[in-house]
Amino acid sequence: MLLKPVRELKSYNLGKELNVLIEAKAPGKLYIAGEYAVVEPGYPSIIVALNQFVRVSIKESSSYGKIVSQQYQEDSVFWRRQGDQMILDNRDNTFNYIISAISLAEEYAQQLGKKMAVYDLFVNSELDSPSGRKYGLGSSAAVTVATIKAVCQFYELPMTKAILFKLAAIAHLSVQGNGSLGDIAASVYGGWIEYRSFDREWLQAARNTANLKTILEQPWPLLKIRQLTPPDNLKLMIGWTGSPASTSHLVDKVAYQKSTNEMNYQDFLDASKQCLEKLISGFETQSLSLIQAGIKENRTILNNLASFTKVAIETPILKKMCDIAVAHNASAKTSGAGGGDCGIVIISNKEDVSTLLTEWKSSGITELPMKVHEINDIKA
Ligand code: PMV
Ligand code: MG
Repeated sequence: MLLKPVRELKSYNLGKELNVLIEAKAPGKLYIAGEYAVVEPGYPSIIVALNQFVRVSIKESSSYGKIVSQQYQEDSVFWRRQGDQMILDNRDNTFNYIISAISLAEEYAQQLGKKMAVYDLFVNSELDSPSGRKYGLGSSAAVTVATIKAVCQFYELPMTKAILFKLAAIAHLSVQGNGSLGDIAASVYGGWIEYRSFDREWLQAARNTANLKTILEQPWPLLKIRQLTPPDNLKLMIGWTGSPASTSHLVDKVAYQKSTNEMNYQDFLDASKQCLEKLISGFETQSLSLIQAGIKENRTILNNLASFTKVAIETPILKKMCDIAVAHNASAKTSGAGGGDCGIVIISNKEDVSTLLTEWKSSGITELPMKVHEINDIKA
């Protein structure tokens, strides 16, 4: 629908005072006559405006600016001010990941001698709630992986999990610019994985030096992806806070703090590594109690990181979620960057979780009924 930029300003005080709300609305329209002819210069038509509007409001912000559409919240754009310039931050906009994925897959297809074609690409995500709110379940990674899979299939390219991971990692990194790419690994390999991220500076240098096909075929420094098998009695539960968090911004904030807290940061890294090694051995020995102890310890380690970086990882509602679960014989922690989104619970499948769930519900926490998914349609 084409919209006339009719603006009705209710108040106008931008730049002076915070929290001043400016609202504008513009109506939709309906052609009555003269369609198509009107495309040609000078040809008449009749059009009406309708009492259905798009409304836009603006409120001054002290840090990042956001551009959010109620209907397309996952495509929100963040921006910041640099002098007179508006610097866009498109890392949370799904379309950038799709375009980047297509471009990578096509670069690979061309190097394999394929002839380029034109196509339509449709995306439908189940990784956001029906109301459009983001669960934080890695929709940007999944859309990147799915797009590369589709385009590579379209061009009939040979595919392995390792190649798919590498293509998707390059595509995702070129949009988000930070992050571990662990979400890409999970989306490619499926099931439970151990993931160690590769040297991003090496990849940057490699991209400037070698061709894509060569880079995909060689081992990537420090990268490790390995499938893990959880013990049979392990049950995973997901608690959703209902409030979205931006991984890229949280990761930026921690990165910003780490140079002024070098020692604490190094201690955090060492403690996390040790804790994770114990956790992984819990999978190797099929020990639920070792895994639960590891989850508990990792929660403490992350809360310590939160306190010296002053980044809100375990928000009050996430704390509530964890505390309720812990009171019911479970181990629990924030998931991913925290700051909202989801938390996870590891509990024995012998435990009765009905009161845990009732308490979550009365605290505004929703259990997401998703299950772990194995991937068998691509070669390792
Ligand atoms: O919040 P999530 O599910 O997007 O996870 C982020 C995990 C971080 O380690 C904080 C960042 C990353 O890219 O690995
Ligand atoms: Mg998150």
